[in-house]
Amino acid sequence: MQHADPQSKPSLSQTPFDIPIRRDLRWDFSEVPADFVKGGNPLISYLWAAMSAGATPIESFFIKALLPTLETIKDDDKLLKDVRDMVAQEALHSSVHNKLNKRLESQGYNIKAVQENFGKVLGKMTDGLDSVGMLGVVAAGEHSLYSFAKIWFQCPEMRHDMHEQAARVFHWHFLEEAEHGAVSHDQYRYFAHNNYWHRLKTTFRARYVFSMLTDAMDIMAEGFGYKPTLKDRFGLFYYKWFKPGLFRLMAFRMMEYLSPRYALTFEHDDIELMRQWSKEVYADQPSA
Ligand SMILES: [Fe+2]
Ligand SMILES: [Fe+2]
Repeated sequence: MQHADPQSKPSLSQTPFDIPIRRDLRWDFSEVPADFVKGGNPLISYLWAAMSAGATPIESFFIKALLPTLETIKDDDKLLKDVRDMVAQEALHSSVHNKLNKRLESQGYNIKAVQENFGKVLGKMTDGLDSVGMLGVVAAGEHSLYSFAKIWFQCPEMRHDMHEQAARVFHWHFLEEAEHGAVSHDQYRYFAHNNYWHRLKTTFRARYVFSMLTDAMDIMAEGFGYKPTLKDRFGLFYYKWFKPGLFRLMAFRMMEYLSPRYALTFEHDDIELMRQWSKEVYADQPSA
């Protein structure tokens, strides 16, 4: 019988499973229209298009920020494996969103202008930070994506109101954001330990996530030559803050991250749910 080495330190990983990398998924965006979110309010389609446009530069930024410290993780093989698997997931997210973005571009979306703006804001967000500071921003950013994931699964109407080919990407992407939801926070804690002040400062840097999305919608509208009506603006405000209340729920979840004792735990039910979402993504696989 083998005994655990009493000297070995417990892993900082909070993820009780191996993070899956789904390289066998196939995608088809050939039917995604410009107004891919039902309801007649173009601003809501622009909001989701902005999320897809932003995925490419943001995932690349995350990967760049995670790599410099990655190979210096010693004596924690589980954490090292989690980070490597998370990076592999993020690289796939970037490339699949890139395909959806090309389709959106063909439908009139000014994806490039939005991505340029995302790039500028990311530069401002991380200006002057060292590698651990960058990890802090990524951990907060990842928490916001983890929050989006929870909200997506909590409010199925968001998925049902979206064209199924686009909804499948978000369903898969948010599933994987939930799966690796703890990883960058674990990596960050490995280097910054439990320095709460550092966490507050770096989280404050990540506040631009909200304004990036709002700017993106204006850029999209301008690209279409569309002047949003008061009704559109009110509808978007309602969507963000009331029903489903995307930004309200986000703000609430960001507060959780600011708790000094913040930790992410996976219950048996969470793992079962993720298994179910994964099955749904495979069930909608287009034929080869
Ligand atoms: Fe991602
Ligand atoms: Fe992520």
